[in-house]
Amino acid sequence: MTLDILDDGRDSIAKAADIIRRGGLVAFATETVYGLGTDATNDDAVAAIFQAKGRPRFNPLILHFADAAAMASYVDFDARAEKLAAAFWPGALTLVLPRKDGCPASLLASAGLDTLAVRVPGHPLARALIRAAGVPLAAPSANRSGEVSPSTAAHVADGLGERIDAVIDGGPCTVGLESTVIDLSTPAATLLRPGGIPREDIEAVIGPVVLSEGNNDTAPRSPGMLSRHYAPSRPLRLNAEKAGEHEALLAFGPATEATLNLSPTGDLKEAAANLFAMLRALDDPEFGAIAVMPIPESGLGTAINDRLQRAATP
Ligand code: TXA
Ligand code: MG
Repeated sequence: MTLDILDDGRDSIAKAADIIRRGGLVAFATETVYGLGTDATNDDAVAAIFQAKGRPRFNPLILHFADAAAMASYVDFDARAEKLAAAFWPGALTLVLPRKDGCPASLLASAGLDTLAVRVPGHPLARALIRAAGVPLAAPSANRSGEVSPSTAAHVADGLGERIDAVIDGGPCTVGLESTVIDLSTPAATLLRPGGIPREDIEAVIGPVVLSEGNNDTAPRSPGMLSRHYAPSRPLRLNAEKAGEHEALLAFGPATEATLNLSPTGDLKEAAANLFAMLRALDDPEFGAIAVMPIPESGLGTAINDRLQRAATP
């Protein structure tokens, strides 16, 4: 790939939207930090994001919409969510809400969770891109894993360079700090990540917001590390060569007796794209356990193994 640095004109938006519809990766300006965006409904495209960032884990991603109405088939809003959306969107606030049944978002985008993080970005360019693409954009900050979030197109080019298709230069980010992440999937509104909108401003709208364990205001750069992660209700047996009695076999690579195969050709990106959907499909009373064949510990395999190990630990 050669990195295309696009200006903020209409031709650029159309070109970037086209790349996104074809499953490519486009970094774009938001008011907080630059995001690395792709079609949130496309599992392969979302897997490519994790590959480009070199993340050792599948952290769930934020879905970016042009307005709150566009979220209708994705998440459930309660009264708190309605109030916060009205007060702060477009803006630097991300809400974690229950995923709707039949939600079109990739399961990999939310790391298999029953919740989805959503926001309407404040930068007009970001909303123009989402409208033109016609799909929500799954977008983590546009940096390599372990590096700081980028606030200019040049930072993105330095960090991700040829690993992505294009970056839309919308100037320096005005907030320069990631969005505040509030979990509303629980009875008590919980601050998962401090960010561009202060907790006090949020409390003025919905009342008390509790701090999540392991997160505090003095560590604003710590990601909203998940205390929760997806796990099937059936036991998972890792590094299995074949299925035992009453076991489903989740295969990788050439295998004859697979119940499902993450990637018959042994392609880790394809395996990542299939991981959560296949675990869910095999989490069925028909099986006593799910046996998973070994996944190589390289590239996206590291993130796949991390999730499998967590899912296997009761
Ligand atoms: O300002 C921002 O939020 C930027 C711009 C591009 O929008 N995006 C960003 O994304 O910072 P990222 O992937 O670097 O951080 C997303 C945060 C992580 O802390 C992640 O754990 C949390 O949101 N998150 C996403 N989905 C979640 C979910 N379903 N439950 C809990 N936390 C979630
Ligand atoms: Mg980040």
